[in-house]
Amino acid sequence: MAQRETWTSRIGFIFAAVGSAVGLGNIWSFPFQTAANGGAAFLVVYLLAVFLIGFPTMMVEFVIGRRGEQNPVAAFGKLGYGNWSFAGGLGVLSTLVTLSFYSVVGGWVLSYIVGSATGAYFGDAGAYFGSVASGPTAIAAHGIFMLVTIGIVASGVTDGIERATKFMIPAILVLLVALGAWATTLDGASAGYSYYLSPDFSVIANNFGSIVPPAMGQAFFTLSLGFSVMIAYSSYLGRDDSLPADGGAIVVVNTMVALLAGFVVFPLLFATGGAEGAGGGAGTAFIAIAGAFGQLPAGGAIGFVFFAVLLFAALSSSISLLEVPVSYVTENYGYSRSTTAVAMGLGIALIGVPATFGTSWLGFYNDVVFKLLLPISVFLLAVFVGWVADTEAVDELGRGSTIGESFTTAWLWWVRVVVPLAVVVTLYLGIDALYT
Ligand code: PHE
Ligand code: NA
Repeated sequence: MAQRETWTSRIGFIFAAVGSAVGLGNIWSFPFQTAANGGAAFLVVYLLAVFLIGFPTMMVEFVIGRRGEQNPVAAFGKLGYGNWSFAGGLGVLSTLVTLSFYSVVGGWVLSYIVGSATGAYFGDAGAYFGSVASGPTAIAAHGIFMLVTIGIVASGVTDGIERATKFMIPAILVLLVALGAWATTLDGASAGYSYYLSPDFSVIANNFGSIVPPAMGQAFFTLSLGFSVMIAYSSYLGRDDSLPADGGAIVVVNTMVALLAGFVVFPLLFATGGAEGAGGGAGTAFIAIAGAFGQLPAGGAIGFVFFAVLLFAALSSSISLLEVPVSYVTENYGYSRSTTAVAMGLGIALIGVPATFGTSWLGFYNDVVFKLLLPISVFLLAVFVGWVADTEAVDELGRGSTIGESFTTAWLWWVRVVVPLAVVVTLYLGIDALYT
């Protein structure tokens, strides 16, 4: 069997993991979730969820991945707890479902790049969304997006994923900063900032039950947690990297990108109307954003840059979603990487085709994956690391880093008690909200 690949450098791993994290979740879903859930009030809860629950959970996936040095299913066996493999399997399942939809939205982004160049959405943004979000255009764009994803994953961990993300992540950061600078010049800038940044704490208090589940779901989704992606990526990691330091860098950069996206989107929306338009749902965010570009001077050129950023973000995430099942199949069944990437990618693309018939699947995805699958998966991983493989986990977390024993002990208890409890509360509130 061929030697297992590893990242060529620490920074290569960080770029790849940031690439997975930074995605449609940061630039598209974060602003519209914020708009749908009370603006800055949502932001506060979301940030708490990212740092207090997301960061420790990322360490959970890292210790499993690096210790296991295998795909997310086999890793549990290699750690000596093969009967927990289903916890990794659940993540693999989530990547299949998520990529099938993610690629459809990636296709929309492609269409918006074209629309920015041709001016096709300038007149009637709603009609444009209708024409590209379903039907033959949507299917074709979905197929193209998936083919690019397949191409990168087929090229391998270092020649494909690492190389692509080393280009895309810096591009995303530079272009987003430029877009944020442009947004300060808009008429709606100050109204946008205040909506985005001045939290009304009574909104949190009165809507606690309806804010926590989407904030927590968004935190897991944006950090690619609960999908076994970070297990897979850290399995290609050297023994002497510091997991907390790398994880901290990934969480901080990912948060910066989401915040920056808000600094672009909210002034943009308030320049031409308000945030209400974008809070109505995933599709309306595309319509509201494109509609705003359509009314502004040089909106086509700036929209082109915005949607190009969104495309890089989506692609650097979709490759991580495909990498998980591909690493599982190649390692378990011995097929070549390229054959597996093509076969799985096309299969997943087929599963996504019904999502090009309309946008009602978005609500379903939100309820099933965001509110159920992710919390369940994170709960299982936390219990596994906290109570079952705790000795190995603590040892692995300390390896290659200068953090002391008090940090690893605090982390262990946090993972044992706080993370599962937070997830259970979230699940309860989320299920409660589904039925009321
Ligand atoms: N984190 C990505 C985003 O925010 C989505 C993603 C989730 C990617 C899970 C990989 C795994 O868009
Ligand atoms: Na993200």
